[in-house]
Amino acid sequence: MPAAPEFVTVVEVSPRDGLQNEQRLLGADVKVELVDRLGRCGFRAIEVTSFVSPKAVPQMADAAEVMARIHRVPGVRYSVLTPNLRGFAGAHAARADAICVFGSASETFSQRNINCSIAESLDRFRPVVAAAREAGIAVRGTVSCALGCPYEGAVAPEAVARVARALLAMGCEELSIADTIGVGTPEATTRVMRAVLDLVAPARVNGHFHDTYQRALVNIDACLALGIRSFDASAAGLGGCPFAPGATGNVATESVLERLAAQGFATGVDVDAVRAVGAWIRAQLVA
Ligand code: HMG
Ligand code: MG
Repeated sequence: MPAAPEFVTVVEVSPRDGLQNEQRLLGADVKVELVDRLGRCGFRAIEVTSFVSPKAVPQMADAAEVMARIHRVPGVRYSVLTPNLRGFAGAHAARADAICVFGSASETFSQRNINCSIAESLDRFRPVVAAAREAGIAVRGTVSCALGCPYEGAVAPEAVARVARALLAMGCEELSIADTIGVGTPEATTRVMRAVLDLVAPARVNGHFHDTYQRALVNIDACLALGIRSFDASAAGLGGCPFAPGATGNVATESVLERLAAQGFATGVDVDAVRAVGAWIRAQLVA
């Protein structure tokens, strides 16, 4: 009997990272329908929304409404971003299965994104992570700008490892290592991921790649070679961060699924169904 294919988790982030940068505000109806359509594609994890300041990210202002109205598919983990305790309170009330605290390896990006230094952000995250663990809610810690910063340029792997170590120490179960502006190369990705894998097993690491220079897929290959088996992706390649000028979309889920299938990995996700959702949400954005 041939061995069962190895499983790779593809976390669908289009409802959050995909939409947060869109200038035109979509109604909650469309967001709920997006999450529900994605829920039928076979994903095990969907990043739904962010409990952040509506002034900072107007598109995510309806986080509570969207969470309340989605139809949850059993076995799918519905996660949200929470920058502080207020965000956590919203996430908890909304019955999020998982939360994400999001830090940065770059001081300037930390200031621009969440209005505090890296050290201050870690102090803010600590009680959030503790509260989530206490409530039995899974916690991801993101390190943005792991491969470069839109303001500072190069970022040292040691800077990434420092934040990663702090996030692990406060109790994050998973680390998401993010190429916020898509400047990574396979070599740089390997260096950064090795620095992270010195701290934590690959099973607890996720790769989050924006695709500015169409290198996300080869960067994912570099991660796969190191044993990492979880990647964020966004239907139709939507995405970007309002605080990261020049960054384009997340790597397209459709491309990641095809690449993984070609390499013999199982994802449980129906690529044709995702393609249909991707076309549908793109049409909503131009309608
Ligand atoms: P601040 O101004 O330092 O915080 O912002 P504050 O506590 O002084 O509050 C300012 C205002 O926000 C107040 O309202 C608060 O009530 C409100 P006002 O009195 O002015 O009307 N507020 C909140 N409202 C709702 N929910 C909350 C909340 N907290 C405060 N949780 C803060 C700090 C972090 C809140 C702000 O900077 C913020 O919300 N930033 C959002 C950043 C963000 O969402 N960025 C995009 C996601 S990260 C990303 O895309 C990267 C990622 O994809 C990985 C990668 O690619 O790198 C994950
Ligand atoms: Mg992102």
